[in-house]
Formats: sequence, C-alpha cells, structure tokens
Amino acid sequence: METRILQPTEEALEEAARLLRGGELVAFPTETVYGLGADALNADAVRRIFAAKNRPADNPLIVHIWDMGQLDALCEPSETALRLMERFWPGPLTVLCRKKAAVPDVVTAGLDTVGMRMPSHPVAREMLRVANVPVAAPSANLSTRPSPTTAAHVLEDMDGRIPLILDGGASDFGVESTVLDASGPVPVILRPGAVTREMVAELVGACEVADSVMRPLAEGEAAPSPGMRHRHYAPKGRLTIYRGSAEAVAEAIRRAYDVEENAVILALEDHLPLYGDRRTLPMGRTLLDAAHHLFASLREADHRGYTRLLAEAVSEEAVGLAVMNRMARAAAFDVEDV
Ligand code: TXA
Ligand code: MG
Repeated sequence: METRILQPTEEALEEAARLLRGGELVAFPTETVYGLGADALNADAVRRIFAAKNRPADNPLIVHIWDMGQLDALCEPSETALRLMERFWPGPLTVLCRKKAAVPDVVTAGLDTVGMRMPSHPVAREMLRVANVPVAAPSANLSTRPSPTTAAHVLEDMDGRIPLILDGGASDFGVESTVLDASGPVPVILRPGAVTREMVAELVGACEVADSVMRPLAEGEAAPSPGMRHRHYAPKGRLTIYRGSAEAVAEAIRRAYDVEENAVILALEDHLPLYGDRRTLPMGRTLLDAAHHLFASLREADHRGYTRLLAEAVSEEAVGLAVMNRMARAAAFDVEDV
C-alpha cells in the first residue's frame, strides 16, 4: 500500500473522512502526539490499528470526539468526569468512563471503561467533524517505539501500512494526554500528561497519581492502565537517566560519556556548558520544552546511530512528571541517583 502525506486542505480532510468511514486508517496530528485513527464503531477497522502497530490486543484505545453531543451514545461519564471535561476539553486529557454497548470490545480490550478525549488541534477537530464518527486512536508509532510528534516520524513507522497521513506540523506538547480515572470520589492519574495533578486538584479538590507511574510493574502485577505494562518509547541505543543536583549529574554523565565510543547526552539548555564539546541532543529550557523535545530527540538519536544515551532527569513537578514517566520507560527504569 502506498502511504501518502497530505497537507490538511479541505480536499485532504474530505479524503481522510472518506477513508475513516470506509473502515480504513488515517494518521492525524493532535496537540499531544500523532494518532492512528479508525472508526471506533467499526470493530474490523479498529482491528487494523492493532495490526498496523503490532500492538498487543490487551492494550485499550482512546476514543476521540469533537463535540460533547457524541458522548451520550458512547459512555456514561461520572459527575466528576463531566466537570473535568468541561474545564479541560478540548485539550490533552483522556477521561475513563463506563462504556456503552455501542463501543466494540476490541476498542477497550474487553474493559468496561472507555478512555474519552476531545483533542484541541484544529486539524484533528476538523477531521473528526467532517468524518462524523468517533475515532479510536492510539499514538501512531509502531508498538514499543517513541510516539511520533511529526508526520515524518509517522511515515518512518507506518510507511506501506496505512493509506494517509495528515500533516499538521510538529505536535505542541509532545507527550501523550493525561489518562485519568474519574470513577471514584478522588480522581486518579494513570498516565501523567500536560493536564497535571495540580490542575485537576485545583478544580475538584484532590487528585492522586497511581504509584505505577514512576516504577516498573512486578512480573504478573495487574496494571491500572494496561499500556504501562508494556515496553515502551524505546530508542535503539541504551538509555540511562541520572538524577540529582545539576553538578553531580553532569559529573556522572561526563564520566559515563568519556568511556563510551558512541554516546550522546540529553540535557537542558542551561546545563550545556557543563558538557563542553561533547555531543548533545536538545531538551530545551523548561519542562514544557523537555516534553516537546523528548520523543523527537530519542528518534534523532536513532537516526544518528548513537548506541548509548545519557539523560539528565528533570523535576517531577507539573508536566515534568509526564516527561519522567516516559523517560523512565524508554530507559527500562535504568535511573541512577547520584
Ligand atoms: O495523547 C494521546 O492520548 C494520544 C493521542 C493520539 O490522542 N493517544 C495515545 O494513545 O497516547 P495510546 O493508545 O498510545 O495510549 C493510551 C493509553 C494506554 O496506556 C492505554 O493502556 C490507556 O491509555 N487506556 C486506554 N483506555 C483505557 C482504559 N479503559 N482503562 C485504562 N487505561 C486505558
Ligand atoms: Mg502509545
């Protein structure tokens, strides 16, 4: 199959809508990462997503909508869920809701909840509006690879596997949406993202973070969010994360770098002078920058053939928790405290 990349013109959006309604797959930009979409109500179309990504069938998909009017046919949101949607939609928040029968089991991997998200990216919104079907979409990478934040990243993983990629430029946030369980009295973040614990707590009084967010699951342990169980986001080179004061981290990274043939350093811009003329990949200045750059830098490391990646930890506050959650998984939890 030939994979086309199209700019999001009116005709391209019509074409995307036609493909989706015909049970085909379309990759599209969102404010978090690129998604690989199919008509969420068409079980055969949804199965194609799992095949194209090599995704384990036990990992549920998020359903994307553009209008609140679509919710009722799909799920039963709790009071808290509705408040969160009103405040943070459209935007990088996925809310788990009790699913209705219309949502095929293949979408939710047999769970009785469905993750609902209303993206804010204008191209995603327009595609969803024109297609006029709810769209099930995971990130548009091959399973285990870093999530794509540009159309070129999607092509790298999906060339020949899907008919169309809509090009909406680089994703704004660069890490996937916050996944939140709002079924109980206190909402629980299962996957951190740009909608932070602090932001949720400010709205509804309290918010917890699942403890699986920053540690590996034990063999056989049940995952609150199945995606957290799988190997994830991994570059081809081996990644280690160093956590501690800027000086101690820089010293440990320099020492590790200097005994390697082919290493690269992921560091915040303000720390670059600490590494002299050693090779680095950009992480930007702020936590939001680090989120924006992380996956692109992991892919860039692969392109340049680095076999060893040495990364500075970032603060786990605010969106930093999302960055560290992804980095720790990309490193298979090889995190050194120095
Ligand atoms: O930003 C995003 O969320 C992107 C864009 C495309 O919207 N999508 C995305 O999808 O990241 P995916 O499939 O790569 O990640 C979805 C995560 C997985 O960890 C999955 O296990 C979890 O959400 N998830 C989905 N439905 C769930 C459910 N019903 N219960 C628990 N976890 C769920
Ligand atoms: Mg993913």
